[in-house]
Amino acid sequence: MADTVMECRNLWKIYEKITAVKDVSLEIKEGEIKLLFGPSGSGKSTLARCLALLTTPTKGDVFHRGECLTRPGVNLNKARARIGFVFQHIWLFHHLTALGNVELGLRRVLKLPKKEARERATKALREVKMEEWANHYPAQLSGGQQQRVGIARALAMDPYIIILDEPTSALDPELIGEVTDTLRALAKKGTTMFIISHEMQFAREVADEMIFFNQGMIVEEGPPERFFTKPSSDRAKRFMERLIKRTTKE
Ligand SMILES: Nc1ncnc2c1ncn2[C@@H]1O[C@H](COP(=O)(O)OP(=O)(O)O)[C@@H](O)[C@H]1O
Ligand SMILES: [Mg+2]
Repeated sequence: MADTVMECRNLWKIYEKITAVKDVSLEIKEGEIKLLFGPSGSGKSTLARCLALLTTPTKGDVFHRGECLTRPGVNLNKARARIGFVFQHIWLFHHLTALGNVELGLRRVLKLPKKEARERATKALREVKMEEWANHYPAQLSGGQQQRVGIARALAMDPYIIILDEPTSALDPELIGEVTDTLRALAKKGTTMFIISHEMQFAREVADEMIFFNQGMIVEEGPPERFFTKPSSDRAKRFMERLIKRTTKE
């Protein structure tokens, strides 16, 4: 039985007026790929940010590799350094090259010496097939290439999980494939991932389990085939139909 890499129990996130996450429990095992999808505003990003310790949950606990990180006195920066997070809106430092962007965390957070940081960053860029673009600045790269640099930046930190919040939804349709291909390659290598995505073909291929999220709650979870053949909730069924119709139209 694989170890649990990340887990939340009875997690709540209440903003001033809105309850974004309502009593959510889930776990991700080593090597597993979970894919979360659901309507806009349903709380997906908030859940991902709570899991990545980028937001403090209102109630409930988050565990990383068995350690509870929601109790007082935990060194969150140390824990955050081993989680890769890839954002929907790609943010790279514009004054740094692709390599410089990937090196930054290695130098600043892990305090690696220059040579080692460079080696690790180069290896990460190679993994996303961006090595030959290492000395280019973000403005010289396409959105898909920038997002691959974002993935390399996460990989370079040697994370035990990568959390991706809609990594392709800000991209032009013709650029989505290069990013999903990169993720497919990581999946093949056994990378543990929690992915928020509405790319249903990709989901079907790579996810071990899909989670349909609505109004801050898990409505349904199970293997992709079940979602594609007979989702048990009406809400998930209708949502999937809409998504599939949208992609086949394009
Ligand atoms: N920092 C915040 N402050 C207040 N409300 C927020 C904040 N972030 C998100 N929300 C609200 O929480 C709900 C869930 O948002 P979000 O997690 O971004 O959903 P999703 O990623 O599924 O679109 C939305 O109603 C959103 O407006
Ligand atoms: Mg979101």
